[in-house]
Amino acid sequence: MDFVFDEYMDFIPDFSFFEQAVHRPPPVHVRINRLKARPEDVLSSLSSRGIKASQVSERYGSFYVLEGVSHPGNLPEYHLGCIHPQALTSCLAAVVLNPSPGSRVLDMCAAPGGKTAHISELMQNRGLVVANELVPARQSPLGHTLTRLGIMNAVVTGYQAQEFPMRNRFDFILADVPCSGEGGLRAEKEHKKPSGRRGRMILQELQKRILLRGFDMLADRGIMLYSTCTYNPDENEAVVQYLLEQRDAELLPVQTGFNQEPGLSSRKKEHYDSRLTAAARFYPHRVDSVGFFMARIRRRR
Ligand SMILES: C[S@@+](CC[C@H](N)C(=O)[O-])C[C@H]1O[C@@H](n2cnc3c(N)ncnc32)[C@H](O)[C@@H]1O
Repeated sequence: MDFVFDEYMDFIPDFSFFEQAVHRPPPVHVRINRLKARPEDVLSSLSSRGIKASQVSERYGSFYVLEGVSHPGNLPEYHLGCIHPQALTSCLAAVVLNPSPGSRVLDMCAAPGGKTAHISELMQNRGLVVANELVPARQSPLGHTLTRLGIMNAVVTGYQAQEFPMRNRFDFILADVPCSGEGGLRAEKEHKKPSGRRGRMILQELQKRILLRGFDMLADRGIMLYSTCTYNPDENEAVVQYLLEQRDAELLPVQTGFNQEPGLSSRKKEHYDSRLTAAARFYPHRVDSVGFFMARIRRRR
């Protein structure tokens, strides 16, 4: 097949290594759900059946890679809600948002719910998480995820995120927006073609509206995380740039301890605000997971 990411050769570092990485299947990452189990108990249960689980990094005691398991959703630990299969980069979103127990959180685009459940776990099931998902067929899997993982502080709503009612303010907001999903195109999904430029520009309009709406619902000292699983600057830097032009927003550093790249400050003929270098880009040859982008945002003080 033609290599679909050639158009990003100008900004993805070590492009030939990137190319090799996207042709390899991603590792099977799981997050241990501490609301239901202690990591040592899950590890001993897995190991008693010959399943090897290795910790991804000492800093993150809940993230593991499983060996010899292709479908972690078949494991009893999954059905018991002790583990959740989740890409490592996707796990980093809730950690970077860092919601405090007892706070009010809005997850604007929540299904299938891995990040919502992680947010509730970090909040120790205290406070309120509004898990919003527009598509009715995806609300049911979202509810199942939250129930299986023992989430007790979340409610599901079904608004268009870009029109979410402005009646409340939130301390933490996650906008994990619909995107072209290019970051997830690795080996076994090679047959899927990324959306064309037109599709990506339609997505960009929606992403801008969702980001602006989320920002307007932030409490005074609130923190917002904008994330996508795409490499496309039109859905990443250009969207956050739009927010910086429209609102008095500032970007905070994204520190994960993993090998990440800064957001772009320019690309071909585009020039982005230099503050965008505070955002983070994740590539599969640097962090063996799905490609990801995060920008951490708050009102300018
Ligand atoms: C990238 S996925 C979210 C993944 C989720 N945060 C997770 O970690 O499991 C984006 C979600 O937004 C939903 N969606 C699409 N358009 C939306 C809109 N206008 N308002 C709210 N949700 C929307 C999609 O159905 C999809 O479930």
